[in-house]
Amino acid sequence: NWTMEEFIGKEIARIREICGSKGRVIGAVSGGVDSTVAAKLMQEAIGDRFHAIMVNNGVLRLNEAQQVEEMLKQNLGVNLTVVDASELFLSRLDGVEDPEQKRRIIGNTFINVFESEASKIEAAAAAEEQNGAEAKGKIEWLLQGTLYPDVIESISFKGPSATIKTHHNVGGLLKDMKLKLIEPLRELFKDEVRVLGRLLSIPAPLVKRHPFPGPGLAIRILGPVTREQVKILQQADHIYIEEIRKANLYDQISQAFAVLLPVKAVGVMGDKRTYEQVIALRAVTSEDFMTADWYVFPADVLRRISSRITNEVNGVNRVTYDISSKPPGTVEWL
Ligand code: XMP
Repeated sequence: NWTMEEFIGKEIARIREICGSKGRVIGAVSGGVDSTVAAKLMQEAIGDRFHAIMVNNGVLRLNEAQQVEEMLKQNLGVNLTVVDASELFLSRLDGVEDPEQKRRIIGNTFINVFESEASKIEAAAAAEEQNGAEAKGKIEWLLQGTLYPDVIESISFKGPSATIKTHHNVGGLLKDMKLKLIEPLRELFKDEVRVLGRLLSIPAPLVKRHPFPGPGLAIRILGPVTREQVKILQQADHIYIEEIRKANLYDQISQAFAVLLPVKAVGVMGDKRTYEQVIALRAVTSEDFMTADWYVFPADVLRRISSRITNEVNGVNRVTYDISSKPPGTVEWL
């Protein structure tokens, strides 16, 4: 048993012991709580021998890649490389409708991009060392932000969440580069990670961020993924979250997001009939996301969100609110 303050000291010491005086660590960051806290711990423990990689997969929220980059580099001092692979992802996803195929494409492409970036980092580091930079060695470890529930789940649970974790599975990398795993959060629950994050001076808004799935907006576009659909959903989602924040409701909700439905509906604008797409809004409260309740919004907030989305997002003329609990619904629509 330890307090969170003690945990930091203990874990930093453990990481330093594992990593010794030479060798580099790489890890993927998404801007989510877990990967950010894990990255910050590594940075505190071994400085820039830790290399974080963020992959922009083209299906992130509006402006997310830039925000995460700024936060991790400027505010937290993490040694970060951002790879904009959105064109590659979007071309592979173009027209794909099947949810599991979307997940597979994103998972596999992520591994390709991450591995190739890791090789580049290693090559660049070797070149610098040749030119007289301090010898910090090769990449030997892979950081993973695995939490305690993930550890348990991967041992005992073979349900849908076996696929949930596919994008985290950088298996080829472990084999080819013979990397060893470092999992500093493997004893912690989510709420403990948030406490840890605050103690490590990670800003509150980041620590309280709603979870965001690895396959991103691709699984919130119910029909075929196209660049146009991604843009529409990014705009609608951005308005939704902005209004939730303005109404001061963000922290009461466990997860909120917009979904782009694969139907068109008739509407009216001026004296013309329109035939456009439909956005569904989802907001839930939940302890652990195994079960969830739909969130009851004040009517005026919903009214503002709906009117802004239909006015500001081209191609959308109707907004609906999802009043399904989990079970029988899931949080995501795909
Ligand atoms: P569901 O839809 O299964 O969602 O009720 C429960 C939680 O898991 C997230 N989720 C995913 N996260 N990759 C992820 O990284 C996925 O494929 C995925 N599918 C669902 C979902 O956002 C919610 O927080």
